[in-house]
Amino acid sequence: MDALIQQTAETLVGARSVVALTGAGISIESGIPPFRGPGGLWEKMDPMAVAHIDAFRRDPEKVWTLLLHGMQALLTTARPNDGHLGLARLEQWGYLRSVITQNVDGLHQAAGSRAVIEFHGTFAWQRCMDCGHRCETARVDLTKIPPRCPCGGIYRPDCVFFGEMIPPQHLVRSQQLVDGCDVLLVVGTSATVQPAAMMPLLAKENGAQVIEINPEPTPLTGRISNYLIQGGSGAVLNDILAGVAKLRAPS
Ligand code: OAD
Repeated sequence: MDALIQQTAETLVGARSVVALTGAGISIESGIPPFRGPGGLWEKMDPMAVAHIDAFRRDPEKVWTLLLHGMQALLTTARPNDGHLGLARLEQWGYLRSVITQNVDGLHQAAGSRAVIEFHGTFAWQRCMDCGHRCETARVDLTKIPPRCPCGGIYRPDCVFFGEMIPPQHLVRSQQLVDGCDVLLVVGTSATVQPAAMMPLLAKENGAQVIEINPEPTPLTGRISNYLIQGGSGAVLNDILAGVAKLRAPS
């Protein structure tokens, strides 16, 4: 493990362009449950019943009650952990070009990351289903479910539901970044949901190194990624950061 950490630190310091693709796993240490695996949201709920746009259109009150209201409560109190802070620090030191996150929790930005693509949108904003007006979630009256816009329309989070397209500007920008990187760090994602899951393949095809950080192997492991650093993202990124700090220290 130590050898892999050292190797990764050296790779980051020597790279031309490093991009990180993150998923729910990086926010677990902030108290936000993942979607899959033990304790995952989709163990308790059927994503097609609560996270598909057709389900929302059919019964917004049900989706707000079962999923979104609880999510809002969790995200209001969640704080960035060492994983988010580590990636922010790598960007500040000039070793990370951008984070592409599948998460909607805003924790990368809260940690100080500036170049963040929110591939699946954000929960920080709501959008009216009728007039399209956008309003910060913190300013929306959630005492009545479903919450409503002043025009009377129902608010939906500015996130990508199943059955919806990735905002084209996010997809195009992500592909450009991944095309042009020589290292892709894949942190805390099961890499099972398209099109985000194709980014590591794209990177690999363009000759980049793909480095995974995850306590468990994923479908990328041993096939697409060069190697997996097995562990929680907070501890692993702390170790990598310590390695990078040593390499950049004036001798
Ligand atoms: P998943 O819930 O599918 O996967 C979470 C990953 O985090 C798993 O591979 C875990 O092994 C890993 N993990 C667990 N603990 C960790 C830790 N301490 N540090 C790092 N990793 C850890 O989450 P995503 O891959 O993000 O989409 O899921 C992708 C998409 O599926 C989500 O964006 C969401 C969901 O349905 C939409 O809602 C559109």
